[in-house]
Amino acid sequence: MLGKREGLGEKSTQRFRDGIGGKESVVDEQMKVFVTGGAGYIGSVCVEELIHAGHSVTVFDNLIEGHRSAVHPEATFVQGDFNDRQVILDAVALAQPEAVIHFAAHALVGESMSNPSKYFRNNVGAGINLLDACVASGVGKIVFSSTCATYGSPERMPMDESLLQKPVNPYGESKLMFERILAWYRELHDLEFVAFRYFNAAGASVRFGEHHRVETHLIPNILKVALGQKESVAIFGTDYPTPDGTCIRDYIHIADLAQAHILALKPEQTGFYNLGNGGGFSVREVIETCRRLSGRPIRFVEQDRRPGDPPRLVAAAGKAISELGWKPQYPQLDQIVQTAWNWHRIHPDGYPD
Ligand code: UFG
Repeated sequence: MLGKREGLGEKSTQRFRDGIGGKESVVDEQMKVFVTGGAGYIGSVCVEELIHAGHSVTVFDNLIEGHRSAVHPEATFVQGDFNDRQVILDAVALAQPEAVIHFAAHALVGESMSNPSKYFRNNVGAGINLLDACVASGVGKIVFSSTCATYGSPERMPMDESLLQKPVNPYGESKLMFERILAWYRELHDLEFVAFRYFNAAGASVRFGEHHRVETHLIPNILKVALGQKESVAIFGTDYPTPDGTCIRDYIHIADLAQAHILALKPEQTGFYNLGNGGGFSVREVIETCRRLSGRPIRFVEQDRRPGDPPRLVAAAGKAISELGWKPQYPQLDQIVQTAWNWHRIHPDGYPD
């Protein structure tokens, strides 16, 4: 049985843009796109960009992590859970999309170390229900949110797509398993795919931002301190083999991630791509950036390492730039933090639901 279905799917004749920049994003051809996890943090901004680019979007989300008010009003919304095979088969059959963008997943490194079953069941098992729904409905392409966590803790930096993938946590392993399944579905069912290995997604559009019901991510936790909602932010580990002893990550703006997904819809694009900016920032540097841009003091407390965290993850994203024509618009950490701060200041309690 299909989950709750709402929305109109009608497009307003006057397209409005309430994203972060003034850039134009245009596609050659309007497509029907089915977005799992479209009420979540990255999904909501991707849907916003898809609609801005003229595509017609169905959002499928169980609203466990996502928020109803993060669903773009011009998208058709289906509330459902892809763990239920029939629900996802029916939802894809009804939407008849040309492409699926698959964001819905559990995505916390730390949680995956304490509850691996949750990650394998949802990210792999339920994901297969979605793939079968794509095959049953003749969907041509799936764009998948994979992660740099599939590489584990590589020695070589920056990381390109040719690195050996050796995950160091069940989250990364679950995404790698799904990448491999995608390759088999392409081989055996002609379901084409693009898999994006994201580095650390951050930032916000004017309208949509980061609101996890339990917040574990670095930047929103720092900004909660800036807003006076938290007394301090933890620094997990100060004895890593990095210049200041804290972990280094490559932060990438979610609007830039969204643009890559739109480029990936073109039929000629297939394969695996890293998405990052190629710059690494330590936890201490991110705290300092948030302090400087917010103008508020940020108290921090040094703690033990968090299990499953690699010391350093920095992307080489040249393949996406040369093959997809991807051009990040917000590559500076300052731009990323500033847009996040703007959103958190206006939405100190996140989404109303
Ligand atoms: N960190 C802190 N204090 C916090 C939160 C995080 O010190 O309160 C540290 C972490 O230990 C890590 C870094 O800040 O070193 C970034 O942590 P996040 O939790 O913000 O992000 P992760 O790197 O753990 O994971 C995120 C996504 C994953 C994705 C990964 C890619 O949650 O889905 O980026 O690097 F795979």
